[in-house]
Order: sequence, then C-alpha cells, then structure tokens
Amino acid sequence: MIPRETAEDIIATARVEDVVRDFISLKRRGGYYVGLCPFHSEKTPSFTVTPSKGIFKCFGCGKGGDSVSFVMEHEQFSYPEALRYLAKKYNIEIHEESSTVVDEASGEKEVLYQLYALAQKYYSDFLLNSPEGKAVGLSYFRERGFTDEMIATFQLGYAGDGWDGFSKHALDKGFKPDQLTKAGLSMSKDGKVYDRFRKRVMFPIHSLSGRVIAFGGRIMIKDPNQPKYINSPESDIYIKSKTLYGIHLARKSISMLNNCALVEGYTDVVSLYQSGITNAVASGGTSLTLDQIRLIRRYAESVTILYDGDAAGIKASFRGIDMILEEGLSVRIVLFPDGEDPDSYARNHTPEEITAFLAENATDFIRFKTNLLFSETLNDPIKKAGLIKEIVRSIALVPDPIARSLYTKDCSIMMEVDEKMLIFEVNKIRQEKHQKYFDHQQRQAEQKEVEASATTPGDFLQKISSNEVEEDVIFFLLHFGDKELLFKEKINRHETRETTVFLAELVINELIDDVTFRCEEYRSIFHIYVDYVKKGDIPTYKEILALSKAKVSEYVVDILSSPYALSQNWWEKRKILVKEASANLEISVMKAINSMKLREVIIIREELLKKLKTNPSQEETNEVMAEINELNAIKKEIALKLGVRIIIP
Ligand code: CTP
Ligand code: MN
Repeated sequence: MIPRETAEDIIATARVEDVVRDFISLKRRGGYYVGLCPFHSEKTPSFTVTPSKGIFKCFGCGKGGDSVSFVMEHEQFSYPEALRYLAKKYNIEIHEESSTVVDEASGEKEVLYQLYALAQKYYSDFLLNSPEGKAVGLSYFRERGFTDEMIATFQLGYAGDGWDGFSKHALDKGFKPDQLTKAGLSMSKDGKVYDRFRKRVMFPIHSLSGRVIAFGGRIMIKDPNQPKYINSPESDIYIKSKTLYGIHLARKSISMLNNCALVEGYTDVVSLYQSGITNAVASGGTSLTLDQIRLIRRYAESVTILYDGDAAGIKASFRGIDMILEEGLSVRIVLFPDGEDPDSYARNHTPEEITAFLAENATDFIRFKTNLLFSETLNDPIKKAGLIKEIVRSIALVPDPIARSLYTKDCSIMMEVDEKMLIFEVNKIRQEKHQKYFDHQQRQAEQKEVEASATTPGDFLQKISSNEVEEDVIFFLLHFGDKELLFKEKINRHETRETTVFLAELVINELIDDVTFRCEEYRSIFHIYVDYVKKGDIPTYKEILALSKAKVSEYVVDILSSPYALSQNWWEKRKILVKEASANLEISVMKAINSMKLREVIIIREELLKKLKTNPSQEETNEVMAEINELNAIKKEIALKLGVRIIIP
C-alpha cells in the first residue's frame, strides 16, 4: 500500500505536460499544448494538454484525465502502479511494505511484469557474476565490441547451460509453474518445469516506459539445427506488432531529431547506440506494421531506414514502405555496402564516420525508388510505363501537397517525362481515393441522421429534464468555484447590505437540501464540493481528479476542457462570455441554480401526476393535489426568477 500522504505528494508534484511528453511530442499553443493522440490514430493533432488545469484531453477520441490517468491508460497500469511510476520519475520515495515474493492479489498482467522483471535481473546477474556467465556470455558480448555501459543500458543477460536455473529461482520467489510456462519463460514436462532459454545471450525487449515485456535469446554458435533467436511468445503484456526494440531508450532522441532510424536487429540498435546514434529502433526482422508506424509517428515526422540487404530484398519491401508514406511520414533510405549491416559498420568506424556516412547516403525514398526502377527499364517503353504507374502510386500516398508537387517535379526530371502528365495521374488516384472516403462519410452521416431523428427531444420539458442542467451547475463549480460573488441584500427600505460569497458555497447552500443529481458522475463531483465547502474549503482541479473514479474524471475533464471543445454558441447559450464571465457571473450562476431547482420541481410533479392516475383513495388524492399546488407555486416563483414563462400541462 502506498501511504495516502505520499500519494497526494506524487499527484501534487506530477506535471501533466512533463508526464505526457515522455510518451509523445507536444507543441505549445498559447496556454496549452497539442500533439498526436496516443490513444487513437490521427494525422492532425487533437490531443491537448492544459498545464494550468493539470489535465489532458483528446477531442478526437474523447479520452481525458490527469497525469495519473494518463499513465494508467497509456501503460495499462493499475492506480498504484501509475503512482509508483510517477514517484520514480520525480524521485519521490515510497515507504511501503515490500516483499520479494509475488503478491497474491496481483492481476495476470502484473504477474507477467513481475516475472519478466525477475527474469531480467536473474539473467543479467548470471551474465556478470557467475563463472559460466562471465566465461561464455560476457566474453561473447566483449568479442562483439559491446561495452559494459551498453550491456547495462540494454540490460543484456545470459541464460546458462543448466536445465532449470531460472525456473527454480522463480518458483522460490513464489511464482507458480503455470505462470512460468504461460509467460514463455519455462516449459513443463512430466510435471517438472525447466528453462526455455538455455545457453543464449539475452536481449530484453522493453515497453515504452522501460518495463521488460519479452526476451530475444541469441545462440552463440552457428548451428543450422537450432534457431538463431528464440523469442518470447506474445502475451497480455507483449504484442509483437506493437513493439519496437529499443523504443524506450530512443524515443527522446527520436522526438528531438524528428527522425527515427529503423534497423532490423537487436545488435544493430545496441551498436548504433554505442556510437552515439541513439534514435534507432528495430522491428525484429519482420516488416513494419501499421501499429509500429503509428508509434513512430507519435515522436517524429520522418523515418530513415538503414537497410543491409540487396536490391531484390529492398524491392520486396517497397509495399511496406508505401504504408509509411501513407501515414504521413517522410522516408529516407540508407543502403549499406555489400556484406555490411549497421552493427558491423558501427563497429568498424568512428562515430564521426558513421554520422557522415548516414548523412551522405540517406536518399529520399521516392527518389530512391525511381532511380532504382528506372535503371532497370533500359528504355523499354512498356517497362517505363509500368514504372511511372508505380511511382505515381507512391507519390499519391503523400498527404502533404507541397511535398507531392516537389516529388512530381523531381521524378519528371529523373524519368524524363512531362511533369503535367505526372500531376494528372497523381490527382486521378487521389480523387478516386477521396471518392471512396466521401462515400463512406456520406453513408455514416445518413445513418446518424436516422438515429438522431428517432430521439430528438424537441420540447422544453424534455430538455430541462435532461442532464444538461446538471452539467451547467458542475460547469460553474469547476470553472468558477473559487470566484467571489458580490450580492446586495435589502435590509430595509433604506439600507442594503453587501455580502460576498464563494461561488461554490452559494451553489452548495442553494442546492444541497432541495435537489438530487440524477447523473451519478455529476452527483459525485457535487459531493466532493459539499465535503470541502463544509470544511470551509474549495477543492482544486487536482484534488477533484485525485478523488474521482476514472469515469467521473472523464466528466470533469470534459467540462474543464470545454472552452477549446465547444463553439461560441455554447457560451452564448449560457449567456456568458469567457472574458466577461465575472461581470455576469452572479446572474448566470443563479440561472443555473434555479434551472436545477425548476427541473426538480417538474420531476416531482410528474411523479405525483403519475400517482393520480393509479386511482388513489380520496384522501390520497387530496394529499397529492395539495402537494401539486404547492409545487405549482414554487415553480411559478422559480420561473419568474429565471425570467421564463413555461406552460406545463
Ligand atoms: N530474428 C528472429 N529470429 C531469427 C532470426 C532473426 O527473431 N531466427 C530477428 C531478430 O529480432 C533479429 C533480427 O531478426 O535481431 C535480425 O536478424 P539477424 O540480422 O539475423 O540478427 P542480428 O540480431 O542482427 O544478430 P547478428 O548481428 O548477430 O547476426
Ligand atoms: Mn543483423
């Protein structure tokens, strides 16, 4: 358990913009930041972070919250895990009862994380401290030129020759055999568990936040009968197609350089890092997936593919590269000399030489493709026509019109064809694509209209009985709860008295006895205010978010971020303008309060009317009628205050 005071410290210290920036690039825009949303796919940023309120909000997918909920959502952490993560980031010490033995209450994912953390420690320790590890594993890494610093940075390890060294260790720590086999770290036969990784150097694969989620174990000898690598199976914490090797170390540098270097293997990433190229990640030998591309796009707008194969191989990967273009990233290609890969090149050259080599050889992908294919057409007109189609298809994928026109110009020169013809062909493809897109949109819009018309509320009664009035009240509490309001009170005919009251106090005092919030989330926010106001205090955003469940936090964040989300209309509807809010605040908030009361009266009255229809006794009828009359009077009074005339049946 994390002590409550520590949790409060952590929440107060964590700055949402710092926390978010560890995972995505943010650009400043006035008082807030924008970036590409990590929770859904998008090409233009609709994800905002507002430091003054301590919140993030995506206007594309609707996700929002504070720094704690951000890491919970992003890393799939539980609440205490998120706090622990933030505590580590801000060097806040947590004094909690810790045990080395696995926590019985942990969820399946947490067990996997704990197991992989244990395995990483075990294999690293075995590499550095056991005689076998030092003689076999460490000397292998040294031979490859990996420094001790890189071995530590990448948390490399060694799995020994024994049958069950790690499995035994994990069982001792309290893990169950089926947890070990499920994680892919052990195998079982005849009721015994033994290690899956044996006599291999171990490359841990990390999540974005740096937790170990899988291993790649490399054999140290050439053996055609055994796979070169054994990799962890996919699990609840490891989805291969969404993972990039090295991303936890590279993401800062990728964001800073606005470029991601893409290589094939684990060893390439390590060697490049050692040479100061810290923006490299590996796809793990397979072609890049859409999820991986989108992961990169969160940090950078360009990708440099460091390619170590031959021409035939790279031609086979063209389709995959088109996918990167389509996602709006620009792509450059670096070809390595025959027989060299990034790893060997980095080992045999100085960091300066590598940097220079990359700078000189990085060629824009579309130019690269045009050159390569053009050299093969040998003036064969049919082949050339096919090539033009192929190039045009790639150019048409580039979302940026300026980049597209540069490409058509470039390629027309390279292929010796008319630029206008290229532009025409590119536009044709784009139009076809748009048509498909519009058709789809159109269908969706029509569908929505059908759905909407079936449920249009239309009349005032229904509007006032919706939760909109509750939202109004909460809106005022959240935005202006700590504002002082000035009221003039008539004492007698000659004297008035001026009193000031905090808006939150006023709202609570006016509503606490008379109304019930029907929406559970609004009710819970309201009650946080009640608790604070009773103690003579007003809660801050951070306190409200910290005290709220995830669902409630979403409502809070929605309302807090409304100035960006909602059109001017919305403000007009509330008869306040942001700038003049304080001038009209007294009137506006009283309107919200009274609407809430009026709604309550209407609801109760409705219920009474229903009762009348159930044939009550004469006595009951009289009672109900009396109540209704009373409500009618109240209703009239409130309506008068509100300045509205309502006719209710
Ligand atoms: N790979 C794999 N299984 C294999 C071979 C390769 O998973 N049997 C993946 C690994 O992620 C590896 C990448 O493909 O890192 C590239 O393969 P390769 O170039 O053969 O391995 P390297 O890691 O580069 O190792 P080395 O430099 O020692 O050859
Ligand atoms: Mn390799």
